[in-house]
Amino acid sequence: MSEKKILLSGIQPSGKLCIGNYIGALKNWVNLQDEYESIFLVVDMHALTVKQVPSELRQRCLSFVAQYIACGIDPDENTIVIQSHVPQHAELMWVLNSITYMGELNRMTQFKDKSKQHNKNINVGLFSYPVLMAADILLYQADVVPVGADQKQHLELARELAHRFNHQYSDTFKMPEPFISKTGGRIMSLQDPEKKMSKSDENDNNILGLLDPSDLLIKKIKRAVTDSGTDIVYDQSRPGLANLLGIYAKLSDKSIDKIVAQFEGKMYSHFKADLGELVVETLRPVQEKYSQLMDDKGYLETVLKAGADKSFVHARKTLSKVYRKVGFLLKK
Ligand code: TYM
Repeated sequence: MSEKKILLSGIQPSGKLCIGNYIGALKNWVNLQDEYESIFLVVDMHALTVKQVPSELRQRCLSFVAQYIACGIDPDENTIVIQSHVPQHAELMWVLNSITYMGELNRMTQFKDKSKQHNKNINVGLFSYPVLMAADILLYQADVVPVGADQKQHLELARELAHRFNHQYSDTFKMPEPFISKTGGRIMSLQDPEKKMSKSDENDNNILGLLDPSDLLIKKIKRAVTDSGTDIVYDQSRPGLANLLGIYAKLSDKSIDKIVAQFEGKMYSHFKADLGELVVETLRPVQEKYSQLMDDKGYLETVLKAGADKSFVHARKTLSKVYRKVGFLLKK
């Protein structure tokens, strides 16, 4: 087995991948992939916690895999895997359920938000979602988990469950470390910059989709909510502008100070036009690669078969250790 440390992360195949997911997660995955033995999940089992159209879910899983690769994940050197292809995720979750307290899950802000959003479908899966996420991470003995700031609380639970299990039964799980960028960990909605940009937002004008056509991206940026000011400065009390500056900084790899100096004396419209161009130029190669990949489903299936085979080895090893520790009689 490789001597490298293990990196693991995942995205839920719901809605459409957006610049928030790109900046908060995918871009970091691409930058870190060579340094670690990396596993990237498409967490289809998590997606079932909100209503899905089965044929669309299937299609979206494949499309997300193609978008991971199009963004720069190298499937020859890393593992891309669909969560439901490795049954040990659900099996480990069951064991972890028994050491998780209701109170811990009740405190999860994502559960509270999603319960409000889907108040006709507050199912048990939505409640126990963070336990499945802990299983995803602990199953592969991940050292580092690059995510956006919204996943911090879930990661803390994963660490707490690892600690609790290790304490109760003896050392079994590695302690995963979150990797959350200081900037770009929370990209905000274009029309409502007090709220996180979300790939399942019902209002498409709130998000910049990775596969949105160029003219649409430019239009959405032009219409993004700013304020009545005129000068381009970074000020948290002007959240719309601060968010656009943050996106600019992450995509150009320039500091906010440098960008502010660059646009000194210029108007919002000028800044927005430049940002539009930057977003379009960043996504153009991603979109081109994506269409090539979607024309070759056979290739994507090969990537997924290899991913499932490779993950299964890690997953089986951890799960049999866990089953032994908790006292299950092993099958001969
Ligand atoms: P999900 O699918 O909601 O989001 C995928 C990744 O994108 C990040 N992200 C953002 N980052 C910055 N600004 C935003 N506006 C923004 N919106 C989303 C998320 O933080 C995440 O990193 N529960 C997870 C998926 C998951 C997972 C895992 C992640 C399941 N198992 C194991 C890591 C490890 C989720 O729903 O992410």
